[in-house]
Amino acid sequence: MLDGKRILLIIGGGIAAYKSLELARLIRRRNGEVRAILTKAGQEFVTPLSVGGLTHDKVYTDLFDLTAEADMGHIQLSRDADLLVVSPATADLMAKIAQGRADDMASTALLATDKPVLIAPAMNVRMWEHPATQRNLAQLIADGVSVVGPREGSMACGEFGPGRLAEPEDILAAIEQQLGGSGVLAGRRAIVTAGPTHEPIDPVRYIANRSSGKQGYAIAQALAQLGAETHLVSGPTSLADPRGVRVTRVETAREMLAATQACLPADVAVCAAAVADWRADTSTNSKLKKDGTGAVPPLALIENPDILATLSSAGPDRPRLVIGFAAETDDVVAHATAKRQRKGCDWIVANDVSPGTGIMGGDSNTVHLISASGTENWAPMPKAQVATQLAARVADALGAMS
Ligand code: C5P
Repeated sequence: MLDGKRILLIIGGGIAAYKSLELARLIRRRNGEVRAILTKAGQEFVTPLSVGGLTHDKVYTDLFDLTAEADMGHIQLSRDADLLVVSPATADLMAKIAQGRADDMASTALLATDKPVLIAPAMNVRMWEHPATQRNLAQLIADGVSVVGPREGSMACGEFGPGRLAEPEDILAAIEQQLGGSGVLAGRRAIVTAGPTHEPIDPVRYIANRSSGKQGYAIAQALAQLGAETHLVSGPTSLADPRGVRVTRVETAREMLAATQACLPADVAVCAAAVADWRADTSTNSKLKKDGTGAVPPLALIENPDILATLSSAGPDRPRLVIGFAAETDDVVAHATAKRQRKGCDWIVANDVSPGTGIMGGDSNTVHLISASGTENWAPMPKAQVATQLAARVADALGAMS
């Protein structure tokens, strides 16, 4: 139930705008209060009259509506809300929020707020997959915005793929999680490892991998949003620190292990880092040089410490829930199930990182959650949503343990 929680619903201009009428109705049925801003483009798809009929309130449409500004300025609108929900979040609205533009009532309210923001994107599949939209999405996630959907399916434009607005029931569930759920991890401590590690060969060369860190950062963000005191130990990435998360940046696996152990005790550890399995046995302080003879220097490797296995067997310091990741290219579930046993962790989040999947470095993920009770196959979804769902499961599991 939403029990008097106040939602500011921003309706963008997309064919899916009509679904926001149903969303407004569902919010009120759950005892939430909903007030709506309808963008100019949104008015092409639904009318202020129909939106107002469902919100039982005035509908705000124009920044320069002086009556509105007199009795309810845009600042007050966002101040009065517990959560801002953008549905449908069009490519244009996402770009505006990501850039901090404020040229109408919707974008101004979004910029003027310090309240949590949830967006439900909906657009043509190629607009969604365009690098510009994906860049904006990554920026929004880094800024602490939560995302629900889009779903995959056939679209009004006749194409098939991700871009359909999440169903109103799913958006409502995300709202309830964001509001009712916020604080469910209050008082809990979480550690997340993310990104690759760099293992030096000499002062200019290193061994690395293609991990972007996006999934781990999104998980840290999602745990923090649920109230956990979250510490992210990150290898080298180009990502901004997630909001409300303490970040320690490291380079090597050994540094990552030490930084992670320094964060104990913790209730949950999520090891999402792609830690280099091996490092150069004899890293040197002088740059290796070609000697002109064509001779190739030997590169002997030795094994790095396994952070996940170390945390899983940390005795009294062991976090109650230890979660590992498995990036596999074949027999994903079988290999990941074996890995869970071998490493001694509680859950494994497994994904297929074969070159064709675009998962490594991309913004979407298709995962399997493997635990003692079996395997769940999750539908393909943005990494931010994998993170939100995983954080909700962590909250459930820790709640059930106490
Ligand atoms: O053995 P593999 O690298 O496939 O295992 C992946 C899981 O183990 C991930 O959760 C990763 O973060 C963790 N890991 C680790 N330390 C290592 C190697 C992997 O924590 N040295």
